[in-house]
Amino acid sequence: AYHLSFFLLLVVGVCWAQYSPNALSGRTSIVHLFEWRWADIALECERYLAPNGFGGVQISPPNENVIVTDPWQPWWERYQPVSYKLCTRSGNETEFRDMVTRCNNVGVHIYVDAVINHMCGAHAGAGSHATCGSYFSAKTEDFPAVPYSGWDFNDDKCKSRSGDIENYHDISQVRDCRLVSLLDLALEKDYVRSKVAEYMNHLIDIGVAGFRIDAAKHMWPGDLKAVLDKLNDLNTKWFSAGTKPFIYQEVIDLGGEPIKGSDYFGNGRVTEFKYGAKLGTVIRKWNGEKMAYLKNWGEGWGFVPSDRALVFVDNHDNQRGHGAGGASILTFWDARLYKMAVGFMLAHPYGFTRVMSSFRWPRNFVNGRDVNDWVGPPSNADGSVRPVTINADTTCGNDWVCEHRWRQIKNMVIFRNVVDGQPFSNWWDNGSNQVAFGRGSKGFIVFNNDDWDLNISLQTGLPAGTYCDVISGEKEGNTCTGEQVYVSGDGIARFHVSNNAEDPFVAIHVNAKL
Ligand SMILES: *[C@@H]1O[C@H](CO)[C@@H](O)[C@H](O)[C@H]1NC(C)=O
Ligand SMILES: *[C@@H]1O[C@H](CO)[C@@H](O)[C@H](O)[C@H]1NC(C)=O
Ligand SMILES: *[C@@H]1O[C@H](CO)[C@@H](O)[C@H](O)[C@H]1NC(C)=O
Repeated sequence: AYHLSFFLLLVVGVCWAQYSPNALSGRTSIVHLFEWRWADIALECERYLAPNGFGGVQISPPNENVIVTDPWQPWWERYQPVSYKLCTRSGNETEFRDMVTRCNNVGVHIYVDAVINHMCGAHAGAGSHATCGSYFSAKTEDFPAVPYSGWDFNDDKCKSRSGDIENYHDISQVRDCRLVSLLDLALEKDYVRSKVAEYMNHLIDIGVAGFRIDAAKHMWPGDLKAVLDKLNDLNTKWFSAGTKPFIYQEVIDLGGEPIKGSDYFGNGRVTEFKYGAKLGTVIRKWNGEKMAYLKNWGEGWGFVPSDRALVFVDNHDNQRGHGAGGASILTFWDARLYKMAVGFMLAHPYGFTRVMSSFRWPRNFVNGRDVNDWVGPPSNADGSVRPVTINADTTCGNDWVCEHRWRQIKNMVIFRNVVDGQPFSNWWDNGSNQVAFGRGSKGFIVFNNDDWDLNISLQTGLPAGTYCDVISGEKEGNTCTGEQVYVSGDGIARFHVSNNAEDPFVAIHVNAKL
């Protein structure tokens, strides 16, 4: 029946809805506002994300989690659920509802990080040290606020010696044992599936547009499908009747393991971790990589099909060496290269794009490892999260990095919207690290990641006119605060990009024509 219905859907030309991001038409990216408070996200939707064409926000897990005090309230405590009540250091249910309503009302949708593979760690103790004050006991696997009891966990199914995942080449271990001691829910049980679906449906009814499925690799695709099959359609206050939630599953597949991202295509999209790892290697010019090799970027690099991919340069895990971390990952700490990588991602048609927005932490490398990789968001002494303040120059204060507000990144989010649906075109490279490409007749971008000047005439595919480079500046009224580019009647323009420029790339699009 599964294959037959898939065939019928193809025949009638209906796209399976869980692959569609459910963003407003013409909005092509989301931003992860990592650890932001709901009150700040609501304000950001209204004052910044909607006016600048962002399609949505991935939020940190909204359900009750363990309060960890050693180390002091790490970011990862939010990946240790205690119940499905909506109260965390980001806010309570009232604030959550207010955020979803206000963001939806300005056309910016909310995507929830859904932690449904597990509850808290086995060593989290017993008591009410949880963000809503619910009692739990990790030792006896008792979570009365759901409720779950020992029957609802996978202990008997797990065949590893320690009860934790020890061998990533053993598929059953990866899915039936504990991920770093996190109590592994028995998603083969209809009761557990129903409690998880009840939580997700509560969020859908409030008005969210979709879910990042945390640790999807650690669940059987069929178990996950059984949960997703129980989900409601989206709230018709903001979405058309019959709209399914957008699903993107965290499956870390860098190759070399038996579990593949493609195992999860039946459920929705997957996070393509090869994307940021490879792009970082290329932009850093490691391992002999060059930007010229990006000509066949995408499936040509062994990535999942574009319409199954959720892509990003870095995420909250690998920006601090967790998850599929690796030294090649570019982050705000390497701002100049990072902007080029994000610019390339947003200009290139492959995948659905997610921009990272981080907080600063006191990075401290000891023997090559950041011993502060656990540090949570900017907080007050009582553990409450500090608000996101906005400076006069539109950047953020209180140690919020707000990469999404960096001019170069914000303008490339707009570029991607302007060129949406246009083909990858007019590729040029110098066989090294100077490359350029267009998006049909709507936009063109040029990179100089070599150690020498670039000064060349290129076919842009754009209509004749004077364009404002949206990297060195932007169009304000009828003037340009950055460099100007002159496209002649035959579509050709001369680009000069110094290797010493603050940002050695130039981007123009038809909405930044003077
Ligand atoms: C939710 O948080 C707000 C802001 O702190 C507070 O005013 C309100 O009373 C809280 N609501 C509930 C139901 O706890
Ligand atoms: C790269 O660019 C420069 C100038 O744009 C050019 O002279 C050079 O030959 C190009 N090719 C290589 C392989 O560096
Ligand atoms: C770029 O090349 C053109 C044509 O050769 C030349 O007129 C111009 O001076 C060059 N610009 C720079 C900054 O080198």
